[in-house]
Amino acid sequence: MADVPQHGLATRLSHAGRAGTKAHGFVNPAVHRGSTVLYEDVAQRRAYLKRRFDQALTYGTQGSATHHALEDVVAEVEGGTRCQILCSGLAAVTTPLLGYLGAGDHLLMPDSVYGPTRLFCETMLKRMGVATSYYRAEATAEELAPLFGRQTRVLFLESPGSHTFEVQDVPALAALARSRGAAVLMDNTWGIHAFQPFAHGVDVSIQALTKYPGGHSDVLIGSATTREDAHWRRVRDAALQLGQYASPDDCWLTLRGLRTMAVRLDRQMASGLEVAAWFARQPEVARVLHPALPGAPGHALWQRDFSGACSLFGVAFQPDITVEATHCFVDALTLFGIGASWGGYESLALPTTGFVQRSAGEMAFAGPIVRFHIGLEDPADLIADLKQAALVVGWSGVPSAAHEGRHAPSDPSV
Ligand SMILES: Cc1ncc(COP(=O)(O)O)c(C=O)c1O
Repeated sequence: MADVPQHGLATRLSHAGRAGTKAHGFVNPAVHRGSTVLYEDVAQRRAYLKRRFDQALTYGTQGSATHHALEDVVAEVEGGTRCQILCSGLAAVTTPLLGYLGAGDHLLMPDSVYGPTRLFCETMLKRMGVATSYYRAEATAEELAPLFGRQTRVLFLESPGSHTFEVQDVPALAALARSRGAAVLMDNTWGIHAFQPFAHGVDVSIQALTKYPGGHSDVLIGSATTREDAHWRRVRDAALQLGQYASPDDCWLTLRGLRTMAVRLDRQMASGLEVAAWFARQPEVARVLHPALPGAPGHALWQRDFSGACSLFGVAFQPDITVEATHCFVDALTLFGIGASWGGYESLALPTTGFVQRSAGEMAFAGPIVRFHIGLEDPADLIADLKQAALVVGWSGVPSAAHEGRHAPSDPSV
């Protein structure tokens, strides 16, 4: 897949998945829409149907050249052998899970997993007879080992975790899973450009391409990329049996978004860190949950395993700050939208207190939490907006002497 592995991400994003002169010389692949595939004659159709499912296109649900171009680019970015495009990030989580699990099987999920993934485990997988155990996202391999049983088929990872951004020791946990014969599935959406899943022992890497690859908050799409083709066949099989199909127009939009993703992420990472550092200096803030910020939780693992960061992070406020005050703060912002999803060009703020569930231990934060996504606006304007909103709520909006230069709170147990 990686025909030019020595090139940097931006170069690969510019060149992968292009048809060259085969698309009438146009730079971009065409949008192929279609359900029926026609044959020259009956014999040709019969010959096609006899081929392995991954070697013959016999119906639209198997995808078109547009899907395959996107699959090539995503496989290239993630460093996997093959990729399956799915209709949303959530479908990219649930489809591989259905491909690996059946009645009587056991699944290990991090406690900080994306909420709808947890819901899927608690509803559909439970009805199918699949048991899910939740483990502390920061668990070491020693802590996780006793949770594996004879029926444990999948270890799921999501690093950093949703909303609270715990960084997982992926190589250690993946090695443990492999020694117990379990497949390792990871939601790698946060680290799309910065974490190489297959170099760290992952078998299936899941992306909500809706986020930075789409990049413009106008498309829902997902992918599952695999370390080797045996895993791809399992995922592909599940996708075909479920009738999973992403619109070719959405594939095309995502391909278009991917071409500029490296540049956007460079800028958004820098702006995100600038805003995160501003929050870390505010006396009302207990902890900034941004793994790339020195002193933040998970920073050492991030430094070891990641080559960069995106622009999504959390802010845990002090215990004496009320949830209502954080709502007023968010309401007073003028440059931040209030809404879910992330990875677009626009900044977002989302109070998440009450939406974050834990079953493997206590929530680590006594005060309210707000999630921020930093877009492509000028960071100085965003910080000015945050300052004016802080003044509206009666917070100082300026760093206190005690917190100047601080990136993390003095109490490491918070
Ligand atoms: C970590 C993570 N995984 C998966 C998804 C699901 O993606 P989609 O919105 O495309 O279904 C999201 C969406 O917010 C997410 O944050």
